[in-house]
Amino acid sequence: MTITTEEELEKLKAIGRICAIAREAMAAAMQPGMTTAELDAVGRKILEENGAESAPIVTYDFPGYTCISVNEEIAHGIPGPRVLREGDLVNIDVSAVKDGVYADTGASFVLGKGDARLETLCRDGKKAMWTGIRAVKAGAPLADIGQAIGKFAKKGGYTLIRNLASHGVGDSLHDEPGEIPTWPDRSERRRMANGLVFTIEPFLSLGGQMADQKSADDEWTLVSRPAAPCVQYEHTVVATPRGAVVVTLAA
Ligand code: CO
Ligand code: CO
Repeated sequence: MTITTEEELEKLKAIGRICAIAREAMAAAMQPGMTTAELDAVGRKILEENGAESAPIVTYDFPGYTCISVNEEIAHGIPGPRVLREGDLVNIDVSAVKDGVYADTGASFVLGKGDARLETLCRDGKKAMWTGIRAVKAGAPLADIGQAIGKFAKKGGYTLIRNLASHGVGDSLHDEPGEIPTWPDRSERRRMANGLVFTIEPFLSLGGQMADQKSADDEWTLVSRPAAPCVQYEHTVVATPRGAVVVTLAA
C-alpha cells in the first residue's frame, strides 16, 4: 500500500494500534505453565474486541490467530499444547486486518529469568529493528535498510536470517513492493516511494543463517539453520520525507 489520503493513514494507524495492543497484552499475559494456545486466545480476544480479524487466518487459513514461536522455532509457530517454561525465548507475531487495511508487528521475549545471552540478543534484536527504521526516508534506496542492519549485526558479531524478509503491507498482509531484504543485498535497487507502507523485521541470531521448515508434517513452523537462538522485532512503518512513521505502537 502507498498512502495517498489521510483516511488511508487513519485506517492504517487504527489497525496498527490494535496489533500493538494485542502484542503487548500477550507479552504481559505470558507465564510459565501456560500453553501457547492459551496465549493465542489473549491475542484473539483483543482482535475481536476491536473489530479486527487475524491476517494469517484470513490470508493463509493459518491454524491460529497469531504466530507464537518458542526456542528452536523462529517464525510462524502454530499455537497449541506446547507449555511455556521459565527462560523460554518466545516470539509473538500479530498481524490483522480492519476496514480492509492490514498491519503486522512482532517481538521476542525471554520468559521470566533466562540466559543472559538471550537477554542481550533481545536487546540487540530490538536495536537492529530501530537501526532499520532510522534508515527509512521517502526517496532513499530500500537497500539502505538492509545495509544499516547488516552493519549493526556485523559489529555485534551476530548473523541475520537471509530468507525471511520484510515486506510491503496494507492492502494485504504481503503487499507491494514484495519482499524487502533486512540484510545487505547488492541486487536491491528500488527506492522508497513516498507513503510506502512496509514492515521492518530483521531476524537477528547467534549464528543462524537460514530459516527451514521444522518438520515434513508442519508446513508452517520455521527453525534456524544452523540451529541457533534467533529473535525478531517487527513494526509496520510509512516512508515519509521526514523519515518513518511507525504505526504499530501501543501508546
Ligand atoms: Co509479522
Ligand atoms: Co511481517
